[in-house]
Amino acid sequence: MSFETIIFTKENNIALIQFNRPKALNALNNQLFDELDQALDQVAADADIRVLVLTGAGEKAFVAGADIVELSRMTPLQGKKFSRKGQNVFSKIENLPIPAIAAVNGYALGGGSEAALACDFIYASEKAVFGLPEITLGLIPGFGGTQRLARLVGTNRAREMVFTGKNITAQQAYEFGMVNQVCASEALMDTVMKTAGVIASRGRASLRAAKEVIHNGTNVDLETGCRIENDAFGLTMASEDAKEGTAAFLEKRKPQFKGT
Ligand code: HXC
Repeated sequence: MSFETIIFTKENNIALIQFNRPKALNALNNQLFDELDQALDQVAADADIRVLVLTGAGEKAFVAGADIVELSRMTPLQGKKFSRKGQNVFSKIENLPIPAIAAVNGYALGGGSEAALACDFIYASEKAVFGLPEITLGLIPGFGGTQRLARLVGTNRAREMVFTGKNITAQQAYEFGMVNQVCASEALMDTVMKTAGVIASRGRASLRAAKEVIHNGTNVDLETGCRIENDAFGLTMASEDAKEGTAAFLEKRKPQFKGT
C-alpha cells in the first residue's frame, strides 16, 4: 500500500517509517495518523519484521508537532478527538509486538517528542531539538507527552519542560535519560540500523515477551512486575526459539530463530 504522508519500507527484517510532509516539517495531521495507523497494523502482522525504526524524511525535522493549521480549524470536540486519535496511534507503537526505535534527525517538538517517547528508545542526531511547546500555543501536550515524559525523566524535569515550553538540545535530552545515544547527524541512520540489526537477529517471540514485560511491569509495583516477568519467562521457555537458542549455544553455532 502506498502512502502520501509517510514512507514505509522494509529491508532485512527491519521496517522503516519516515514521516514525510516536507512543507510542514512533517507535522502530524489526521491523514498522517490514519496512514501511520495502517502501516503499524502491517508491521504488527508481518512475521518477517523484528524491529521498527521511525524517523523524519528530510534534513530538518523529525516531526515539528501536530499540524497547527489543522489544529486551529478544529472545534474543541474535534481537537479532543484528534488528541485521542494521536494517543491511540502512539499506544499502538508502544504495544507493537516488536521493538521500535526513534531516530530523531531534527526538530522533535510537541507531537514529535511525543512520537519519539512512544518508541522503546531514542537515538538522536546532535542537531536534534526536543521540546513540548504546546503551552506557547495556549495548549498542553495531548498525545501522551505529559505522561510518558514524566515517567521517563521524572515529574520535575517534565514539569519544567511543559510549563516553560522551552526546547532542549539532543545532549540535554541525553543527560535527562530521554535519549540513549547522540550521533553526528550523518552517522545517525547507520548507527540506528546497526542496533536495529542486532535486535533483528534475536527471536521475535522473545523480543515480544521482553517488550511486553518491561512495558507492563513499569507501572506496577516490583513484586507484581516480577510475577509478570515470571509468567512471560515460562512462556518463552516453552518456545521453539528457546530450544534453538540454547541448543545453538551448546553446539557453538549461531541460532536460527523462527519467532515461534
Ligand atoms: C504546521 C508547520 C508546523 C506545524 C512548521 N510548520 N511547524 N505547519 N504545523 N507544527 C511549517 C511552517 O508554517 C512553515 O510553513 C514550514 O513548516 C517551515 O517552518 P518555519 O517555521 O518556516 O521553519 P523555521 O523558521 O526553521 O522554524 C522551525 C520550527 C518552527 C522551530 C520547528 O516551525 C516551529 O516552531 N514550529 C511549530 C512547533 C510547535 O509549536 N509544535 C507544537 C505543535 S502543537 P510555510 O508555509 O510558512 O513555509 C502539538 C500538540 C500536540 O504538537 C497535541 C495535539 C492534540
